[in-house]
Amino acid sequence: MMEKLTDKITAIVLAAGQGTRMKSARPKVLHEILGRPMIAYLLDTLKAAGVEDIVMVVGYRAEEVREAIPDSGVRFVVQEPQNGTGHAVQVALAADLPAAARTVLVLCGDAPLIAGESILALHRLHQATGAAVTVQTIELDDGIHYGRVVRDQEGRVMAVVQAKDAREHPEILAIREINTGAYFFDAAFLRAALQGLQPSLVTGEIYLTDLIQIAREQGRFVAALVDPDRESLLGINSRADLAAALQTVKRSINARHLDQGVTLIDPESAYIEPGVSIGRDTVIYPNVYLQGASVIGEDCVIEPSVKIVDSILENNVHIKMGCVITKSHIGAGADVGPFAHLRPGADLRQRVHVGNFVEVKKSVLHEGVKAGHLTYLGDADVGPGANVGAGTITCNYDGAKKHPTIIGEGAFIGSNTALVAPVTVGAGAYVGAGSTITEDVPPGKLAISRARQVNLERRPVANKKKK
Ligand code: UD1
Ligand code: CA
Repeated sequence: MMEKLTDKITAIVLAAGQGTRMKSARPKVLHEILGRPMIAYLLDTLKAAGVEDIVMVVGYRAEEVREAIPDSGVRFVVQEPQNGTGHAVQVALAADLPAAARTVLVLCGDAPLIAGESILALHRLHQATGAAVTVQTIELDDGIHYGRVVRDQEGRVMAVVQAKDAREHPEILAIREINTGAYFFDAAFLRAALQGLQPSLVTGEIYLTDLIQIAREQGRFVAALVDPDRESLLGINSRADLAAALQTVKRSINARHLDQGVTLIDPESAYIEPGVSIGRDTVIYPNVYLQGASVIGEDCVIEPSVKIVDSILENNVHIKMGCVITKSHIGAGADVGPFAHLRPGADLRQRVHVGNFVEVKKSVLHEGVKAGHLTYLGDADVGPGANVGAGTITCNYDGAKKHPTIIGEGAFIGSNTALVAPVTVGAGAYVGAGSTITEDVPPGKLAISRARQVNLERRPVANKKKK
C-alpha cells in the first residue's frame, strides 16, 4: 500500500483542451492506453494517494469526457472557450473550490502517468518549504515544446517560460530543466494571484506558469523538485507521445507480472491490460493480447497471437496459437485451438478439448467434451464426455429465432452432422456421419439420416473422337 497524503487537498485536473496535435475528433484525455482512457490512470493514482476532492476542468467535447468516467466522484467545471492553463484554473476556482481548501494540487490531464510517489514527494517539499508554489520538473536533453524552468545564479526558481514565447531566446531554449505541469499551490496565494495573470503577447493564452514569476515578485518562495521518473511525467500531445506512453504502461504492468511469477517469453510483445490477473507459472508467448477483466489461472500456456477479452481461464489451460476468446469461461486442464473462436457465453468445463477451426457461442461443453475439428456449437449444451465429430454444425438459427441443441452425456456425433435445432440427442446415443438430424434421438440409439449409398454398374463412356 502506498502512503497517503495527510493534508486535505483539492486537486484540479486540466482537461479542457482539444489536443490539436493529436489530429483527432476525440478529446485528448479520452485516447486510450491499453484499453483505458488516459485520464482514468490519473484519477486512479489520485485516489490511491488519498486525494478525494477532484475538480476536472473540461471544455472540448465536455459531455464525452463526463460520460467516459462515470461514478468517478469528480466535480466537473466547464471552461469555454479554452484560453490557456491559467484561465482553466481561474474557471475552476471561481466555480468550485471549497473555501476551506489550503493546498491545491494542479495536474495536467494529458500527463496522466504521474506516480503517486511523485505526488507525495512534491507535497512533502511543498510542506517543508512553505512555498507559494512547488513545481515538478524533469531534465530533458531536448525540452522541445515544454516550458523551461529559469533559475537565478543561486539556483532559485524565477520563472517558467513557454517554448513558444522563447523563440528569440536561445539561452532559454537551451535550458534542460522543464516543467511537467504538476504543482502544489498555497490556496490563498493562488486565489489572489490568479487575478493578476495577463495573456501572453505571443499566443494570447493565459498561462498558469506565470504564477511562478508573480510569486517571486511578491517575495514568495518557489520550490521545485526534479523528479527522476522522467518517462511517466512526459505529456501526451501527439500520437507518437501516446505510443510512447503505451510502452511505459506496458512495461510497468509486465514488470509486475514477471515479478509475480509469470513467464513472458518476450515482455515487449505481451499486451496485458491493467485489469487482468495472471496466476504463477503461466507462460505467455509473443503477440498476445489479454484484455478487460480477464482472469488467467496458474500453469496456463498462452501461445502466440491469441486475444483474450473479459474471460476466465482456470488453472492448467492451454490456449494454442491464433485463438480469439471473448467473455468465455475455460475450466481447468482444457485445451483450445489452434485457431479456435470462443464467443460470448462459451463455457468449457474441465479437460474439454476444442481443436482447430472450432467456433463456440453461448454453449456449455461439460467435462471432457471433445470437439476437435471444424465445428460450430451455438446455443448448445453438450454433456460430459460427448464426442463431437469434425464438421458438426448446430443449425441454431432459423432466420428469425435461435434454438437450443442438447447433446447428452457420452453421446457420439459423427462427422459432418447438421443438428437442426431445437433438437436433443440423448445420452449415449450415436449419430452416423453425414446425418442431418431434425428429430430427437433417444438415449442409446443410433441415428442415421442420409441417403443410403447405392453402387451401380458403370456404363462405359463413349470416347469422343477428335475431328
Ligand atoms: C503545458 C505547460 C508547460 C509544461 C507542459 C507539461 C502552460 C502554459 N504550459 O504546456 O509549461 O511544460 O504543459 O506537459 O501551462 N488545458 C485546459 N484549458 C486550456 C488549455 C489547456 O484545460 O485552456 C489543459 C489541456 O487539456 C491539457 C493541459 O491543460 O491537459 C496542458 O495544456 P497543453 O495545451 O497541452 O499545454 P502544453 O503546451 O503541453
Ligand atoms: Ca500538454
